Amino acid sequence: MNVCDSDMLGSVFSAYGASKVNNLSEADVVILNTCTVRAQAEQKAFSYLGRVKEFKQKNPCIKIVVIGCMAERLGTNIKKRFNSVDLIIGAKDIDNAALRIMNLFRTNYSSKKVNCEIKSEIVRYVTIMRGCDNYCSYCAVPFVRGREISINCETIVNECSSMVKNGAREIILLGQNVNSYQYKDVNFASLIKKAATIENLERIRFMTNHPKDLSDDLIKIMATEPKVCSHIHLPMQSASDKILKVMNRKYSYEHYLGLINKLRTAVPGVSVTTDIIVGFPGETDEDFEDTLKAVKTIRFGGLYVFRYSPRPDTKATEMTDDVPFEEKKRRHAIILKESNKISIEIVLEMLGSTQQVLAEEIKNGIIKARTKNGRKVFTEGRKEYIGKHINVNIKEAKVNSLFGDIV
Ligand code: 5AD
Ligand code: SF4
Repeated sequence: MNVCDSDMLGSVFSAYGASKVNNLSEADVVILNTCTVRAQAEQKAFSYLGRVKEFKQKNPCIKIVVIGCMAERLGTNIKKRFNSVDLIIGAKDIDNAALRIMNLFRTNYSSKKVNCEIKSEIVRYVTIMRGCDNYCSYCAVPFVRGREISINCETIVNECSSMVKNGAREIILLGQNVNSYQYKDVNFASLIKKAATIENLERIRFMTNHPKDLSDDLIKIMATEPKVCSHIHLPMQSASDKILKVMNRKYSYEHYLGLINKLRTAVPGVSVTTDIIVGFPGETDEDFEDTLKAVKTIRFGGLYVFRYSPRPDTKATEMTDDVPFEEKKRRHAIILKESNKISIEIVLEMLGSTQQVLAEEIKNGIIKARTKNGRKVFTEGRKEYIGKHINVNIKEAKVNSLFGDIV
């Protein structure tokens, strides 16, 4: 979601003639888009704010803006700790962020400027819903992002169309739980059908999915609509039914495994990626072993593994955080090692094959592209290829990226 919000702000600002810079010393304004989902993300944001505070002491003209989930949760606290911060905009107010940031500069913008062309990018994000009603017991999102709201489907399709007119070829539809999208009589599967009719749009991806709501209709669309990518991010969190229950995930491991089997039968070559939390309160060695076994059985295309950290307001803070930090680190490392081993096996199988990829960007003559099931592929090429499908023969494979030659 944060990538999407940053993308949206970037587009608005570039329409006003502003541009992204790589160095603090070149910036007029620093916008820090924050996440509060894990404690580590907040600590990172605080240490970054410490660094820009020092910079501002020598460069007082620079404006510092903090937006997003952490701004929502800790607004006044941030202001108290860092008087260098000029503006704080919480996640619930993100739609007004661009205007409020621009007001910092007290500039009058003519309406002409709003119509300036937006920088063309091949892959763009579109938010289809905000907030979440699921209240997984570890998760801060319902508290900082608020209740689940689905955005008008016409607005979404219009936004996608205008991005495609500006050069986008792939759209990633975003929501905390896209499977529960419902705007009047339009559900997520029918929203995808509408988006797929957009001319020149080549690919549609979406995230994040909740296993309790993933419908047969969606699996069918993935199987039949050629523009829909064969990749799904389906957070499992744990494979222990006991832990899933206290996490309030509302599905069992058996149900989860059933979905994987359905997806793999219906969508050949589909890549399933996931999120896993280790060290949740009450997670015993046996619970952890269940999760590790599931990782070996399912063979995810990739995964993110997190050490549990208690988040304020959540139900899990009432439970004893009883897995010692060192043990969380150990479990984290074991899952990561296993996942890397599997990823290597998967990518090695792709050696010598020819993959159809969509070329997304080029830097120093190297094209970054992606397979339909989400693997990154790098190849030498020309900028004329950007936005087009190309065939690449795979010559080298690493855990997270493949390398090859255009054929
Ligand atoms: N501790 C650790 N990981 C968490 N996540 C969410 N909340 C927490 C927490 N309190 C992870 C989940 C989620 C991902 C975005 O972040 O795995 O799917
Ligand atoms: Fe958090 Fe659960 Fe909602 Fe995902 S579905 S955002 S983990 S509460």
